[in-house]
Amino acid sequence: MENQIKWAVIGSGGIARRRTIPEGIVPADNAKLVSVYDIDAEANNDVAKEFNASAFNSLEDLLASDVDAVYVASPANMHHDQVIACARAKKHVLCEKPLGMTIEEAENMIKVCKEEGVVLGTGFMMRFHTQHQAALQMIQDGKLGKPVYGRAQLSCWYPPMDGAWRQSPETGGGGSLMDMGSHCIDLLEMFFGKLKSVSCFINNSVHSYESEDSAVVALNFENGAMATVDTYFCIPDNSSKNVLELYGSGGSILAKGTIGQGDAGEMVAFLEGEDAGYDAQQARDAGGGIEINPAPVNTYLAEIDEFSQAVLDNREPKNNLEISLQSQKVLAACYESARTGKVVEV
Ligand SMILES: NC(=O)c1ccc[n+]([C@@H]2O[C@H](COP(=O)([O-])OP(=O)(O)OC[C@H]3O[C@@H](n4cnc5c(N)ncnc54)[C@H](O)[C@@H]3O)[C@@H](O)[C@H]2O)c1
Repeated sequence: MENQIKWAVIGSGGIARRRTIPEGIVPADNAKLVSVYDIDAEANNDVAKEFNASAFNSLEDLLASDVDAVYVASPANMHHDQVIACARAKKHVLCEKPLGMTIEEAENMIKVCKEEGVVLGTGFMMRFHTQHQAALQMIQDGKLGKPVYGRAQLSCWYPPMDGAWRQSPETGGGGSLMDMGSHCIDLLEMFFGKLKSVSCFINNSVHSYESEDSAVVALNFENGAMATVDTYFCIPDNSSKNVLELYGSGGSILAKGTIGQGDAGEMVAFLEGEDAGYDAQQARDAGGGIEINPAPVNTYLAEIDEFSQAVLDNREPKNNLEISLQSQKVLAACYESARTGKVVEV
């Protein structure tokens, strides 16, 4: 293995081609793209040519090639079987979120990867965003006081399209909540710790496909904080700003555009402390606040670099099994809550 992990990619034609290969695997010093596979042979050949990799026409041939790790970026309903095939072939696996479609699938993937002694991670790359890391550090340093409330938003316009796997629960596992809300919930758990219970509404507000195009979740954390996630497939892209708000008894961190695929947004902290007396005016300044602007890193590069290093060091990746499984548990609780109209313990 030396100092570079040899990577294969399954499902090369989507996010892999747009982001993870050019921004992650190609530039990472500790990674090298070797082979690609996609059921769309034409797209696969194009990717192979563009990034100087070998194109394979079957999963079996791909897994027989000389690679150490596989990035699985196919639709969600393919993740379980493909991750297991990779593990049985003794390849380490970075699986895009979600880790399978259900808790049972995620547990089985984890079990087989453990049996085969391969590293398994999930693509929650927004954790690597440097502004998110800076916010996390501020919370851990107590600068917000006691965390009390968060909001994470990720929405887009996703109209009905033939073959769009996210629009059917059978292929996507769910709609906006599963696809984008999973990132929001994962980030809020990074900031506030483990969730205790959730209450969730889902809807098809605009689009008539089978998966939900709208979801709102109320989250109740073990540390006493609460949060909401709003995630919609039926709000035009530029009209929702992917807001992240984190509040504590001593201040807040307010961001726009840090959640998503980019590497920098706007983030401002208001750190007032808990010592102020009651002010009946409850006045607010228009501006103020401290801009949180750490040097950005590309989150796909950080994800590939960290996973490759975990394999080289023979250790768990940062986006580890616990995080991946927890995400499935929370999503299952959200859908159960939406179905039953009840608060559900995670
Ligand atoms: N972290 C992120 O920023 C991010 C962004 C987008 C998508 N994703 C995740 O990546 C995965 C793929 O999403 P996408 O947007 O790229 O989807 P997509 O539909 O754009 O691309 C998926 C690719 O997989 C191929 N494919 C379909 N079935 C296959 C199979 N059985 N075997 C091999 N290839 C197959 C398709 O031909 C296509 O090229 C999903 O799990 C999604 O949640 C993550």
